Order: sequence, then structure tokens, then C-alpha cells
Amino acid sequence: MDLFDSLPIEDTGLTAEQEIKALREELKEQNYKYYVLSAPTMSDREFDEKMHRLQELEAAHPEMYDPESPTQKVGSDIQSTSTQPSAVSDGFPRIRHRYPMLSLANTYSREEVEDWVRKLPTGVEIVAELKYDGLSISLWYEHGQLVHAVTRGDGTEGDDVLANIKTIAAIPKQLTNVPERLELRGEVLLPWERFEGLNKQREEQEEPLFANPRNAASGTLKLQDSKEVARRGLTCYLYYMLGEQLPGKTHYERLEQARKWGFPVSDAIKVCKNVDEVMAFIAYWDTERKNLPVATDGIVLKVNSLAEQEELGYTAKSPRWAIAYKFAAERQLTLLKQITYQVGRTGVVTPVANLEPVQLSGTMVQRATLHNEDFIRQLGIQEGDRVYVEKGGEIIPKIVGKAETVRDSDNSTSQDIGAFSFPKTCPECGTPLVRVEGEAAWRCPNEVSCPPQMKGRLEHFVSRKAMNIEGLGSETIAMLYDKGLLRSIADIYSLRQEDLSAQERLGDKSAQNILQAIEGSKQVPWARVLFALGIRMVGETTAKKIAKRYRSIDALQWASKEELTEIDDVGEQIAENIVAYFADIRNLEIITRLQAAGVQMEDVSNQQPAVSVPQVLAGKTIVISGTFTEHSREEYKQMIEDYGGKNSGSVSKKTDFILAGENMGPSKLEKAQSLGVRLMSEQEFLKELKGEN
Ligand code: IVH
Repeated sequence: MDLFDSLPIEDTGLTAEQEIKALREELKEQNYKYYVLSAPTMSDREFDEKMHRLQELEAAHPEMYDPESPTQKVGSDIQSTSTQPSAVSDGFPRIRHRYPMLSLANTYSREEVEDWVRKLPTGVEIVAELKYDGLSISLWYEHGQLVHAVTRGDGTEGDDVLANIKTIAAIPKQLTNVPERLELRGEVLLPWERFEGLNKQREEQEEPLFANPRNAASGTLKLQDSKEVARRGLTCYLYYMLGEQLPGKTHYERLEQARKWGFPVSDAIKVCKNVDEVMAFIAYWDTERKNLPVATDGIVLKVNSLAEQEELGYTAKSPRWAIAYKFAAERQLTLLKQITYQVGRTGVVTPVANLEPVQLSGTMVQRATLHNEDFIRQLGIQEGDRVYVEKGGEIIPKIVGKAETVRDSDNSTSQDIGAFSFPKTCPECGTPLVRVEGEAAWRCPNEVSCPPQMKGRLEHFVSRKAMNIEGLGSETIAMLYDKGLLRSIADIYSLRQEDLSAQERLGDKSAQNILQAIEGSKQVPWARVLFALGIRMVGETTAKKIAKRYRSIDALQWASKEELTEIDDVGEQIAENIVAYFADIRNLEIITRLQAAGVQMEDVSNQQPAVSVPQVLAGKTIVISGTFTEHSREEYKQMIEDYGGKNSGSVSKKTDFILAGENMGPSKLEKAQSLGVRLMSEQEFLKELKGEN
């Protein structure tokens, strides 16, 4: 029996209406992550189960019908269009599909497949195919020439990624003796081998890894650089032909025709005459698919006769003449021997399951992340349990549940999880752990001397996108740390040739190279230095924005939380982290040492406005509030400075006026009124700059 069959439907405690709304939200969000960001945070299985639940609820509550519900629409791979002209999305021309591009009804249950086949008119032939796990593409041929290659998009319109598709050698670009207009649909894929190579390369370059070949293929197809697409080595299988006056009366004949014209059509296709043949096909490919060079996630069954297809028709989202059977992720039962705890670069303590080694999808699995305390409590697991480990479309194995009643002493309920307790102190340095409200993670607050945090900080500081100090890899850092030569990022600039060449693994030459790279890092611009400092939650982009607003560390260290939150991307939490960073005297010491070493702590690019402008705002303190139409808030800040004014985050007696946009914050408005501070509209302000007021 399938494990999921035995899992009770979670009692959500919500009304049907609330549950429908919550599921719609969640599924829309997941669609976005899957199709647009190519980075899903939910397994396909979980997604499908939630979708089925929503379908059930909507069927029971027809009054809640909504054409915008994810049950009624296919997931869209088009970025939010609110700020983009409708003719392009993600930099690609947007094209309307001639025929809507639908998805398929799916099931994980073989019984449901049997039911579906049995309900078809008797004697109907069924074509069984593999369900390739990539992303769908529609190829348009006119007079034999490939003219467009359109992604599914929202099913109605998609992105024309022709240049990228042309890099796929197997796809014909020019055909002869074909109907005037022809459309072929299929799946674009990144073969396993290419996927692994790509991830290896990304790991070396410290770029985020793709979770699976599907995400990698979709990320690749949306690249603007076709040369890079060509290097990645996409491939494609076609499984559907559309158009008018096409040859053949059956789906199978059309695929055969497509193959003859030179299209890549899979060999793994069978015309089945009855349910047994269908089930045999499924059983065969369930194991055999593991030997294929590309990812598959199921079987697609299609009614062969085109006339019958027409008869059966479509729902809003999918054809009634086809169904997908999805393979369950591979799952094994094994012993959870021990839970250990790993302290990461940011001090987050992650529980790790140490398992009795078990074979799963071709690899030996002995460790799996347990994410955080809540995750363990939800699963209700503890050391000594037998647990299910699964490896689905995601490459990283995960624990999905436990086998019932295997612990002798187990008479615990879900509230009482006997032996499991999360450590109270850091397993590396003994500091009591803290859990920030609203966060799932326990964290070691000892940023300054907890060894993995220190090593992590050093690694981050030297990394390519930060100070780019080549030669100081994680092993060298760990060694120098353990020897006491590197205890803070500032120590990097005190390293001497003899310290380095005295190390066993470093000769004179590599010592010299490291010192040279350290010297070179003094040219790294201020924004990257700020990123390199490793202030919590200040990533590369945020650092750039902060550095643009505060052009030196001296300016930044006095910034208040309120002022910081005025910067795009800087919310309360980040602002708090920045203020806390500068409140710690140990960090100030490090900064002083970095400055003394010659690291760039200010923007040395031309700080003057390109054209000198009249200083009409000289001596004025101005507060910006609300949203604007002519310029962005950042631009207004810059303009205030360029015209000699001072920009302030909060309204006080010293404020000369408020540059007030739409929807000004109520507290600022109230304060301004009580102090009698003038509100100046965007238009008035622009006139003021021109000296027209
Ligand atoms: S037929 C109208 N056949 O699965 C029928 N789809 O959720 C169109 N897929 O969007 C689909 N292999 O991207 C079909 N052999 C196959 C397939 C296949 C993979 C994908 C396709 C589609 C999705 C359905």
C-alpha cells in the first residue's frame, strides 16, 4: 500500500471557504516559484495533492467558483506583467498561442488509471508515452521554416524563445514537403549528465544549484545569452502535432510522420489495445526509465483516434482524451540512528538525520536534513525510529514520515515526543542558543568566536562575489583558523609570507599568490566590501542599494533604523541587523583595522553630480514620504543631495518640508500637521528644483 493512503487528511480546523482560499493562494504562489523562478519549494507530489484537495472542495462548493482559481488555469511561466509592456516578458517577445497550451489531468494511483481506461468507449486504442520532465515548447513552422518557439506561458500566450531553441541540434530549422503551417509540441530537457556538469560548475563558482534537471532546463531556456544556452546542451522530444489539413487519422500516425520529417520523437511509445497493455507499459517503464539519459516523471496516456479525441473534448485546463500517471518518488524505509546538529555560517543550527545507509535512486543515502525543530516535531520522529526517506524530482533526499510502532517503549502521542529535545547550547562553542520570534531556526548568537561561524565569515569574505581572494579556499581557511593565524576577517590583511609558506600544504609560490590576491582585494569597491562584511541578511543586491545611499562606512554606521528602512529592499529586520552590527565594538575594531589596511570603505567613484546643479535646497532638511510617479524614491533622495539638501527619515521641528507622494504614511502626516511642517507635492518639488516656485 502506498504510504500516503494511510496518512489521514490533515484536520486544518478551517472552514471550507477558508481552506479553498488558503489553497488557492498557496498553489498560485507555488506555480510562480515553479514556472517563473524555476525554484519550487514544494515537492510535485505535495503540490498535486493540494490541487486535488482544492478540486474536491470546489466541487463540493460550486458557489465558490472562480475562473482565476489554479484549478481552472495552467501554471504560468510568465513574469508578473504589471510593470511590463504586454508585448514582451522576461525580455522575450510575447506570442499568443494558436491553440491553447493545456496541461494534463494527473494521478498517482494505478486504480484511477484503470478506471479512466475502462470508462472510455469500448475498443478505443490508447497511446502510451513517457512523460518527460522538462518544460513544454510549441514550435511553429511556416512554409517549412521554424519561425517561433513559444513557451507555455499562461496557456494562452507565452514567450518566444526561438534563438535559444535553435541551439538544440535535434530540432529541424527548415523542412521540405510539409503543410504550409505546422505546429509541433514537446518537452525541452537538460540531460542528467549535462545537469550534473552544470551544477558542478555552479558549485565551483558559488552560484546556487538547480534542484533538478527540469529547473535547470527552464532556467536555461529563459537566458538572454543563446551562446550560454548552446553550451548547456538542451535536448527535446516532441509528442504532439497540430495544424490544419495534417496527415493521419490517429495521434500515433502523426507522431510517425513527425519522425519521418526529422523531428526527435521518442521510441518509447506503444499503441495499447486494452487496460492490461497499458498497465504493462507502466510497470515496464517504472524501472526502465532510470536508465534513460533524461528525467521522466510518469506516463502519458492518450486516446489514439483523432475523431474520438474530438468527441471527448476538453475541460478548462486539460483534454479529456488524455491523462498522466505520475510515478511515486522513490522511497525507502531505514533506521534513524542519530540526530546530529550542524552549525552554519550564520549560526543557524540545523538538525541532520544520520541514517542506516540505504540505496535510493542509484545512490547510497546516509544523511538527510531535518531542517529545524518544528519539522522534527511535525514528523514526530526521534532517534531509533524507522523512517521513510524519499528522493523525488529533488536531488536531495528527505525524510517524509515514520513507520508506525517500531519502538518498544513507544506509547507516545503526537504531543509527547519522548526523547527528542533540541539542544539548548551550541554544539560547537557551548553558547546558549536563541530562537528569534517568527523564525523556525535556533541560532548560536556567538558570531565572533563560534568556530564554524568564524570560518564561514572568512569564507564568505574571500568569496568571488565579495573580496574575490583566490587561493584562500575553505580548507586553507580552516587550517589557518585552527592554527590561530586567522581569527577575524581583519587578520587576512596581517598575514605574512612566512606565516603562509610555513604551512605544510602551501609552498612559497602559493603563499605569494595568496598575498597578491589579498593586495588586489584592496581595489574591491565599497558596495562589495559591505557585502563581504557579512552583516546578517545583507546580500549582494541589498549591499549595492545601501552603498548607493550611504557612500562610506562612516556615514552608514550612524544611520538610524528609520533612515535605513527608507532604502528599497531594507525592511525592519535588515535595518535592525545593520544597527546591531555597528553597535558591537568588536565589529568596529575590525572595521578600523580593515580601513588601516587600505580596504575601500567608501565610494571613490565620482561623487559629484555629472552636471553641477544650483544648490536650491542648501541648508534644507527634507523628509520623503509616500509613492511617486515621476521618479523613484531613490532618485528623489539623490536629487535632494545633488541640489544641496539633506534627506532625513523622520519628521521633526528641523524638517523644512515633506516631499509628499501618494498614500503618505499616517504617522508622518499626523506629525507634520501637529508641527505645522509644509507638505510639498511631487510637481511642486520639481518646480522648486527648477527655481520656478
Ligand atoms: S501531451 C494536450 N505528452 O506534461 C496535451 N505532455 O502536465 C498536451 N509532458 O504540459 C500534453 N511528456 O509539458 C504530453 N508525452 C507527453 C508529455 C507531456 C511531458 C508535459 C507537458 C505538459 C505536461 C502536462
